[in-house]
Amino acid sequence: MTYVRNAWYVAAWEQDLPADAPAAMSILGEPIVLWRAGEKLVAMEDRCVHRHAPLSLGRCEGASLRCMYHGLRFDADGRCVEIPGQELIPPTARVKTYPALAKHSWVWVWMGDPALADEALVPPAVGYDDPDYILGHGFLDYEAEARLINDNLLDFSHLSYVHAQSFGTGPEFAGSLPRITPLPRGIRYERWLEGTFGAAMRKSDVPLDSWQTYDFLIPGVLLMWSANYPPGTAKALGHSPPEKLDAIAGLNFTSQAVTPTGEGTARYFFSWGPHCKYGDEAMRDGMMALADRAFGEDKTMIEAQQKVIARDPERPVMPTAHDKGVTLFNRLVQRLAAEEAEARAAAA
Ligand code: FES
Ligand SMILES: [Fe+2]
Repeated sequence: MTYVRNAWYVAAWEQDLPADAPAAMSILGEPIVLWRAGEKLVAMEDRCVHRHAPLSLGRCEGASLRCMYHGLRFDADGRCVEIPGQELIPPTARVKTYPALAKHSWVWVWMGDPALADEALVPPAVGYDDPDYILGHGFLDYEAEARLINDNLLDFSHLSYVHAQSFGTGPEFAGSLPRITPLPRGIRYERWLEGTFGAAMRKSDVPLDSWQTYDFLIPGVLLMWSANYPPGTAKALGHSPPEKLDAIAGLNFTSQAVTPTGEGTARYFFSWGPHCKYGDEAMRDGMMALADRAFGEDKTMIEAQQKVIARDPERPVMPTAHDKGVTLFNRLVQRLAAEEAEARAAAA
């Protein structure tokens, strides 16, 4: 499966990473150990240069990580700084490191050319440090290609079917098309639903116009805002986006990130919660319970879909009108990946 390498991949929720112990993760099939050298977040190959024990079974010692097989110790640049019982440290005693940083509550790892790792390319998510939102978070491991989860998040018409019970989405959602616009590193999704009564726990007794927008960005990060407005707002605005998020109710944010861990496996990270003006911790907890249920519905469908595809992977899909976002995004992935391959070939 083709994925972009010159991108920041979500490796963990920052708050889930232990303060003084290494953690194992795998991205694009490469085993990675994450650890903190003081303030600095380090990502390196999860393989000791000595006899290839996983460094994720090692021990953090201040600004260094010790392999707990025979005790070799490495600094934040992957350089071996101690070999028990031996004075000389060969220059080859160095573990590969990846550019890594923590931002918006996520730990991001750059999987491509380290010289191109640019912090400006970290998707502008909302994290726990944003005082405006009250978020919960979690993740799910998938026995399916990340690509299939990206496709799912790029076509919300499935809400009317997969999530009819959990989110309470009616058939009108699949019955009309959102506006999809290309972005330099993704696509933007925008839609109004007019005169609805809200879904599931955000049900209202009066009809509302509900606005939903998300950006889906390379390598597979969804940043979504939803909000409710008085009936007639959509029409009054000519169905263009509301200027400000000056909603009357239900303003909330969700971030979702899909990281390919290996061939046919992925980790799906998510957050969800209300704007503090429109909700509280109890609402956040209710939303997270709903998310657990709904994201389980996606997992059941996508893992089953993966099994069907595996029986005959070459058979082409048959896109529909709702696939515009899927098609645009996957074309962008193919183009960026081809450009990366060209740059690698030119450098070789
Ligand atoms: S395998 Fe790491 S010290 Fe021996
Ligand atoms: Fe879904």
